[in-house]
Amino acid sequence: MFSRILKWTGRILLGVVVIVLIAFAVFSFLFRQHVNKQYTVEVREIPIPGDTATIAAGKHLYEIKGCGVCHGVDLRGKIFVDDPAIGRIAGRNITYGKGGLPASFDNKAWLRAMRHGLNAENRTLLLMPSEDFTLMDDHDIAAIIAFCKVQPKIDAPTLPVKMGPMGKVLSVLGKIPLFPAENIDHHYHQPVQVAKAPTVAYGKYLSASCTGCHKAALTGGDNPVPGGPPVANITATGHVGKWSKEEFITALRSGKTPEGKQLLVKDMPWTMTAQYTDDELIALYLYLRTL
Ligand code: HEC
Ligand code: HEC
Repeated sequence: MFSRILKWTGRILLGVVVIVLIAFAVFSFLFRQHVNKQYTVEVREIPIPGDTATIAAGKHLYEIKGCGVCHGVDLRGKIFVDDPAIGRIAGRNITYGKGGLPASFDNKAWLRAMRHGLNAENRTLLLMPSEDFTLMDDHDIAAIIAFCKVQPKIDAPTLPVKMGPMGKVLSVLGKIPLFPAENIDHHYHQPVQVAKAPTVAYGKYLSASCTGCHKAALTGGDNPVPGGPPVANITATGHVGKWSKEEFITALRSGKTPEGKQLLVKDMPWTMTAQYTDDELIALYLYLRTL
């Protein structure tokens, strides 16, 4: 009797292991399909001016778009996630030093990466949030490229992105935004320059940096980072609807909300929003209050 129970338990366990292995093989297969898909896009070339005003504008954009979170303040690259189950994702060295971008990485390659989320082989970059950057106007994208291109060369190895089993499953299920090229309208023709002023329209333009976490409607929901807290609703129907302009600015510069909450940088990257100018924050505030 007892030995029969043992036998059956063994069979059931074996069955479970086989099912898990098959499921994992399927996810690995699907994952490779996402990664290996090749795109045909037409990269629209634009002038990349190299004057000091453009480079200064590019420096500000590098800060407010959070490039440093994944590429480091000096562009040498930085580990963003390092977890045995999820994987190791590091922004690469984007200087022209050893281990960084090859000399052949020209303006067209920059535009392909920033606006189409594609590498030189026309395959999707992993995790790089190009679906936000593709919405930037010609002036801003040129400025950020101009800034990056003149930064000192740094010799630092690029750690290739390596996804763990859980990371593969979650990205195939669309729970981790790993494949930017899939979420980009590759025919979008960006405006030359949007008007930069404390207006609702400019706030909407800037909110491209918030929708990745706060969702397209900015009403929040599940956290795109596995294990993170739910993302807040930042439309007029959430707390922001009750905040004054000054309270909004304080919250986005210090992480302290009027309700007495301290937002943690690891959840809500307020060290990034702290770099926004007053006009940029006011524009965001005005826009969010219309939603
Ligand atoms: C959330 C993390 C993250 C942020 C933020 C981010 N990147 Fe990246 N970026 C990556 C990762 C990861 C890679 C490497 C992707 C790969 O190898 O598939 C990458 C690759 C690149 C590349 C190389 C493309 C290529 O063909 O190899 C460039 C250029 C780049 N990023 C520029 C930027 C700039 C400029 C910004 C800010 C406007 C930025 N990134 C913001 C994660 C990020
Ligand atoms: C990396 C993901 C991420 C990005 C990008 C992000 N947020 Fe958040 N934000 C969060 C999370 C998560 C919370 C909730 C944190 C908590 O509950 O502790 C939050 C909270 C907030 C809050 C506080 C809301 C409240 O009710 O207390 C405001 C305001 C806010 N975000 C504004 C913004 C704006 C504006 C942007 C774009 C410029 C932005 N966030 C970009 C993840 C993000």
